[in-house]
Amino acid sequence: MSVTAVIGAQWGDEGKGKLAHILSLDHDIILRYQGGSNAGHTVKAGGETFKFKLVPSGMLHAGKTCLLCDGVVVNVMTLAEEITALRERGQLKGELMISRHAHLVLPLHCMQDVYFEEAKGKRAIGTTRRGIGPAYADKYFRVGLRAGDMLKDDFAHRVKAMARRKNVLFTGYYNQPEVDPDQVWAQVAPAVEVLAPLVGDTIQLVRRAIGNGASILCEGAQGTLLDIDYGTYPFVTSSHPVSGGALLGTGISWRELSSVIGVTKAYNTRVGAGPFPTEDAGPDGERMREAGAEYGTVTGRPRRCGWLDLPLLRYAAQLSGFTELALTKTDVLDRFEELKICVAYERDGRRIEWPDLDPEVLQRSEPVYEMLPGWHSDVTAARSVDDLPTAFMDYLGFIEDYVGLPITYISVGADAGATISRA
Ligand code: IMP
Repeated sequence: MSVTAVIGAQWGDEGKGKLAHILSLDHDIILRYQGGSNAGHTVKAGGETFKFKLVPSGMLHAGKTCLLCDGVVVNVMTLAEEITALRERGQLKGELMISRHAHLVLPLHCMQDVYFEEAKGKRAIGTTRRGIGPAYADKYFRVGLRAGDMLKDDFAHRVKAMARRKNVLFTGYYNQPEVDPDQVWAQVAPAVEVLAPLVGDTIQLVRRAIGNGASILCEGAQGTLLDIDYGTYPFVTSSHPVSGGALLGTGISWRELSSVIGVTKAYNTRVGAGPFPTEDAGPDGERMREAGAEYGTVTGRPRRCGWLDLPLLRYAAQLSGFTELALTKTDVLDRFEELKICVAYERDGRRIEWPDLDPEVLQRSEPVYEMLPGWHSDVTAARSVDDLPTAFMDYLGFIEDYVGLPITYISVGADAGATISRA
């Protein structure tokens, strides 16, 4: 029995999808525990590119069980589209189950997300507009609809009742037109047909699998610094990407978690608003964006780019109890003469090593950089550590020493094959 969690150590987009895809080959069950269609995972396999927002990466492999567990919010339209598209490409190979407890994201939630963001004006968070915040808000307000409700006779009635409730908000608060509850149901009903047969008791399935010694891979979405409690609130998502979320969102207990892999890029990115001390708004950041194709998978927005922030990485490692690190997109730094790496901050004339995630305080934290030599060579063809230049290994060693963890996976390019394992 083993339970491995793959967790973002930064503000999302760390390349978790690629690692999860590779690791999924060695696991029986691949599950998601939080987030929804705000996540965008790109997997390149067998010459084909797959972009997933909701389905776990294991769906490409026959014989795998893929779960969307209790803590996930399921956009019914998006998931039905992904399943239908994978079926049409003949690539829906794994078995998919949706937890009956998982809350549903309806088009109503997406509309609410957009209205809310627009009403905030300059103070907008820059959400993915995928209805994530409104769906989790309904969950905690105890008025949400769950996947299990799709199996009940009165589901159409419940969807229409939700539309009527949202109309009060849409018209009264956001000054927007009413939606027609019958039309909302007409839009949602075909997706429900696709999804309802996939709803089940994932908790029981997970508990049985653990009892039978199965191996489980928990695929995190977003990253530690976007966690609702441990991130840069309010510039966060509405779920728990940290390892605690993998327990809360699934029915796995802490006793069973065997390894927690923290995934970090060799530099930092952020999409949407919020503090980012090491952001480089100049030519270096621009080079990272172009070399790393740093544009959002879900929204296409350009990502903000900057240097690796080690105090934040160590914070993420401690919160989730990372047992090891995966370092991704290292090839993006191939052409830099020198690499900056943030080892502390300066604030009010003092050197500080522990990050304060209050947005205003973090933004005022001036990074203290060490300069390391670049390796200025193309590492994309490297397939073992022996192929990597000394300066590259020094950069790796610097991160390992600072965080106190081994880097067991090194990604040197976009393809699944461009990964060096030291695990
Ligand atoms: P939401 O999750 O759509 O509510 O967006 C809240 C914040 O999280 C925004 O800054 C988004 O850009 C960010 N975010 C959400 N999902 C992702 C992701 O998968 N990668 C990177 N940023 C994300």
